[in-house]
Amino acid sequence: MTETADHYDVIVIGGGAAGLFCAITAGERGRRVLVIEHANRVGKKILMSGGGRCNFTHLGATPAQYLSANPHFCKSALARFSPWHFLERVNRHEIPWHEKTPGQLFCDRSSKDIVAMLLADAAAAQVQIRTACAVESVEPGDPMRVATTQGLMTAERLVVATGGLSIPKMGATDFGYRLAAEWGLPLQPRRAGLVPFTLHPPALAQWSALAGISAAVEARIMSQGQPLGPSFRDQMLVTHRGLSGPALLQASSYWRDGAELSIDWMPGLSPEDWLGEARKHSPRRRLKSLLSDRLTQRLSERLVDLLTLTGVPVDAPVADLSRTQMQRAAQLLSDTRFQPSGTEGYRTAEVTLGGVDTVALSSKTMEARSIPGVHFIGEVVDVTGWLGGYNFQWAWASGWAAGQAV
Ligand code: FDA
Repeated sequence: MTETADHYDVIVIGGGAAGLFCAITAGERGRRVLVIEHANRVGKKILMSGGGRCNFTHLGATPAQYLSANPHFCKSALARFSPWHFLERVNRHEIPWHEKTPGQLFCDRSSKDIVAMLLADAAAAQVQIRTACAVESVEPGDPMRVATTQGLMTAERLVVATGGLSIPKMGATDFGYRLAAEWGLPLQPRRAGLVPFTLHPPALAQWSALAGISAAVEARIMSQGQPLGPSFRDQMLVTHRGLSGPALLQASSYWRDGAELSIDWMPGLSPEDWLGEARKHSPRRRLKSLLSDRLTQRLSERLVDLLTLTGVPVDAPVADLSRTQMQRAAQLLSDTRFQPSGTEGYRTAEVTLGGVDTVALSSKTMEARSIPGVHFIGEVVDVTGWLGGYNFQWAWASGWAAGQAV
């Protein structure tokens, strides 16, 4: 086909974090880039991220904070485009930011600052952006042919940056996964990640009375006596549907059907030592009142109920507890088990786990090995970060890697 007015060097499908950053990177290299976005504006997820303040990176991002069938895949992109590189751009635009927990960077003002920065840099790099443009079909080849509601567009290179399935009302689609499947690329099963848990009715009836209560906990997923993934020390929040809060969102990415959730109510403290100290220094105090010193009233009452059910006399002086009763109490306080009925799913999930299998892609360029000139970046790829800015860092880094190559 001869070149037409609608021919570009690079077409990026998806104007989210990864797509925009890839387009900027390629545009800054002098490539003629078009971004096609089916929503009425780009960067909608960036706008809603971080509670409106976009947790745009994590300075401590390493491959260890990412889930993937191939944990080595993300190493190259993350090493070549670090959080400091992104921060340098943020600073150049004089966007005020702060560090919330160590390494976790948020905008001081609003996520709009990040979208404005990306749009300004895209304009400076002469990237064209078409919003409200739906892709009807894509035909890889030389050139790549992209049929859209705004006409046929062609390019030498194609980048698929259509993101994951979470928050469908923000424009999320399975388009990238469908393209990959159509082209014979393998996919890792997809599921919602960084998502609240739901509980079965009996447990929900007991816990939902505490809706709104939060506590510092250590959460982990257990399956057949073994931990699935690391444990996360952070806040837990009881909701009307089940359990949420950062610690539980983190753990949810490791949860599988049938696995249990383990909650340690005294993170960083051994309940055995705590009970031992109480016996030594205040032997006449009751476990019930000792617990209310450490936990909120309603939570301590709930744990008192659970302790009573396991036969621990919560009203007896702590010095009178038998060794077995002490062990049972310590066990419950460090490892209360929940059997989630599921998760809230893509409606509220922050990310989609799984996606285009990394065996099909070059970790250096994100190009599909079997379809020269086609690249997959961002969340559509089977690389998913923890909560804390890691997902945007993957979007920037994978977008940069492809942007250098296209
Ligand atoms: P992203 O979803 O950003 O972009 C994909 C784009 O493709 C969208 O604009 C979509 O409309 C478009 N698209 C889809 N199908 C299309 C089609 N057929 N044709 C054309 N366009 C199409 N991460 C983090 O690091 N820090 C944070 O603070 C948060 N906070 C956060 C809050 C909430 C509520 C959510 C849901 C998610 C987060 N995240 C996050 C996760 C983060 O938003 C996410 O990982 C990145 O946005 C992924 O970037 P992508 O560009 O891959 O997808």
